[in-house]
Amino acid sequence: MLTVTVDGVSLHYRDEGKGPPVLLLHAFPLNGSTFDKQVKALSGRYRFIIPDIRGFGESARGDGPTEMSRIARDALSLLDALNLDTAVVGGVSMGGYAAMALLREDAGRVSGLVLMDTQATADDAEGKARREASATQALEVGVEPIIQAMLPKMVATGPDSPVAQEVAALMRAASPASVAAALRGMALRPDSKDMLARYAGPALVIVGEHDAITPPAKAEEIAGLISGAKLEIIPDAGHLANQEQPDRVNAVLDAFLTSLQGHSD
Ligand code: MLT
Repeated sequence: MLTVTVDGVSLHYRDEGKGPPVLLLHAFPLNGSTFDKQVKALSGRYRFIIPDIRGFGESARGDGPTEMSRIARDALSLLDALNLDTAVVGGVSMGGYAAMALLREDAGRVSGLVLMDTQATADDAEGKARREASATQALEVGVEPIIQAMLPKMVATGPDSPVAQEVAALMRAASPASVAAALRGMALRPDSKDMLARYAGPALVIVGEHDAITPPAKAEEIAGLISGAKLEIIPDAGHLANQEQPDRVNAVLDAFLTSLQGHSD
């Protein structure tokens, strides 16, 4: 198992494939295996570096809220450990918040940005209160109520579909403490609109047409902020478009990554 230790916290990651490096950050409350179908299809041409975000998968949690800037610094430490100056940096939903945090920490490390089913705005007061209530609930009664509330919104095909059941199994693997820490961390994230407007590199924005958590309007907002960004709306997909419609997402991701050859290191 590949691990890197950051500030005493052991973090698991995958490093698969050959080619330009692509760092992918997963959604809440899942783990790096959510990118299996991207790795399987595209690792012949790209090197995928996929950490389990602290607290999820095989990675230890550490103390306090899992702030997006903390995830970003973990990812930068991983790139350092692999001697990679730059990578294409992508993320789904919470992973997208973390990718934006990485851009804020050190834009010079980002050779291209891929934001999937995410949003540039911070939580409002009501959203923060909802997160805190969910965090308390996770700690008091476990993650099942959160799974039941989120699952219908994760995929367009409904909670009984095979892909939804795969997602539910990943969610059930998350510990209440890690779920609470990530919820509290997401509530602390800043608005990223100004920062995205300053980003001058290549960008791909992907969203499932039926995403009920971060709907297409959120993706349109991001794409409108980044000069030259390409927006791809994935038909027949909900929030986890890369898992629900992997072939469609792989095609647009591959086209974007191919377009960077000659731009990136
Ligand atoms: C995710 O899919 O990572 C989360 O739903 C994002 C969020 O709750 O804002």
